[in-house]
Amino acid sequence: MNNLDFHIVGLGNLGSAFLKGLTNLDNNLTFHLYEKEPKVIESIKDEFNFDVKNEIDVIESGILLLCIKPKDLNKFLDTNKDKISKDVLICTVLAGVETAYISQFVGNKIIRLMPNLSIKNNNGFIPYTKTYQEDYLSFLKLLSGLGSITEYDEELFHIITAIYGSGPAWYLELSSRIVESATKLGLSKSESNKIINELLKSLPSLVGGDEFSNIVEKIKSPKGTTEAGINSLNSDSFDKIVFNAINAATERSIQISKEINNE
Ligand SMILES: NC(=O)c1ccc[n+]([C@@H]2O[C@H](COP(=O)([O-])OP(=O)(O)OC[C@H]3O[C@@H](n4cnc5c(N)ncnc54)[C@H](OP(=O)(O)O)[C@@H]3O)[C@@H](O)[C@H]2O)c1
Repeated sequence: MNNLDFHIVGLGNLGSAFLKGLTNLDNNLTFHLYEKEPKVIESIKDEFNFDVKNEIDVIESGILLLCIKPKDLNKFLDTNKDKISKDVLICTVLAGVETAYISQFVGNKIIRLMPNLSIKNNNGFIPYTKTYQEDYLSFLKLLSGLGSITEYDEELFHIITAIYGSGPAWYLELSSRIVESATKLGLSKSESNKIINELLKSLPSLVGGDEFSNIVEKIKSPKGTTEAGINSLNSDSFDKIVFNAINAATERSIQISKEINNE
């Protein structure tokens, strides 16, 4: 790949995960990094030894990855839209922000992604949607270095954001509650943490083919411990609790989209 300028605005949780994943690749990228928060700037300088700027000067070519919060987007676009050449590919990860919204400000090609933090280890999954047809600047090839990629209709992004972008939080919140329960039942917090960490590491070997409910059936035995726990989850309306959480996250994505359009 020819040398490519890669600009990242916002180096918090997701921006730094991108940077980590991209620096793991053997690609000819020149990074230009922008961040406001002094603590984040220090940690990026310590970990990666790259220079970090506060403001964009001008972006003439390459890729501009936006990793800021939706609330900061309008100010960013007001300040910077005239500094971005039309040849630059704009890549956005902002939850709830549609490509059509950004297109009101700039005429660039836009690709929207909904990864999660696993891209930092190059084994993520990256749903994307784009405003153009053919691959541009070999970006899809580059993205494939961070994980497997799949294109979706943009209208599906609210639900994809809820189940995948936010997804790790559902499993980790559950893990945190299991640790809390084990601790209440007499196991030390450090042992509970260790066991649940090991449990999470063992899960990938169980998934991949069969439906999840079938795998649960294989773990369950009649009148056994798993069945007792699953019966308890069902009588406490676990399905309703999970549906409400996924629905709330989806609705919040829709709401962010409306808020940003009305600002
Ligand atoms: N975290 C995830 O797992 C995840 C997953 C999928 C999608 N996303 C999306 O990714 C985006 C970033 O999330 P995050 O968790 O990484 O947020 P974050 O940790 O808050 O990082 C955003 C960073 O951008 C900085 N910033 C704001 N405006 C800036 C500007 N104009 N120039 C340079 N830096 C600027 C912020 O600084 P200040 O704090 O000083 O404003 C902050 O340090 C969000 O839109 C979110 O929807 C996140």
